Amino acid sequence: MRGLILLAYFLATSSFAQTDTALQDRLKSISNDPVALRSAVDAGKKVTFFCVNCHGEDGISKTPDVPNLAGQNPAYLLEQIRKFGSGERKDAFMQGLIKVLKPEERVQAAHYYASNKVPPSAADAALVPRGKELFNKLCARCHGEQARGNELFPRLAGQKVPYLKTSITRYRDQTGVRNNQLMAIATAPLKNEDIVAIANYLTQMP
Ligand code: HEC
Ligand code: HEC
Repeated sequence: MRGLILLAYFLATSSFAQTDTALQDRLKSISNDPVALRSAVDAGKKVTFFCVNCHGEDGISKTPDVPNLAGQNPAYLLEQIRKFGSGERKDAFMQGLIKVLKPEERVQAAHYYASNKVPPSAADAALVPRGKELFNKLCARCHGEQARGNELFPRLAGQKVPYLKTSITRYRDQTGVRNNQLMAIATAPLKNEDIVAIANYLTQMP
């Protein structure tokens, strides 16, 4: 078990080897300065005016296939923006759109979305207990028991069910749209109905 955890952390750090550390450092230094953070959040709201069309007002999506960005960890958001930009993560819209943002604007956008709160969504209550059991067994050690994540692992609490289902299935099936070894290993044992149960558990979490 200990060996497995060490392996997981090795993979976590190595899969971030491509991370733009200079920009991540910039993000962190703003986090540590309340005045700089306030102005980054304000600037972020402005530079993301056209993201609203899909990601909703304040990053709370109204479209089931589009993820909430509100409440997400800013380091994770910045890393995903980089991945769309480099083509490591694939999405026809996002890969093109994200090129519009300059490096500093990416940092501002990440801080802006992270500063908003995400409300929980309604779930199929019958599936929640099974989802909770699976999540605690297979996922909580990285994403956290409250599914709120940290700078390495995304927040999942309150995320949309269809987006969760699609994302988890892609990692399991290793479709190449999004590659991540840690997620491929973690999702390998899941059946389709397990994925639906986990998604319903996560969406109703505050
Ligand atoms: C045309 C619709 C559309 C617009 C406009 C759009 N997005 Fe997206 N965005 C998406 C979709 C769809 C996904 C999920 C892609 C997938 O399935 O992996 C996504 C995913 C993301 C993610 C990854 C979230 C996660 O949880 O991993 C980030 C970050 C993001 N978008 C930021 C932005 C920003 C910043 C803008 C504005 C510059 C923007 N998006 C504009 C549709 C859009
Ligand atoms: C060993 C650590 C680890 C474990 C265990 C793990 N994850 Fe992840 N998860 C990650 C990492 C790292 C990412 C970000 C990968 C990337 O950049 O695409 C991620 C991303 C995700 C995403 C995408 C979130 C988004 O906003 O797009 C979902 C959904 C997810 N995990 C669900 C799960 C579920 C469900 C389980 C349990 C079956 C699980 N994870 C177990 C490390 C882990």
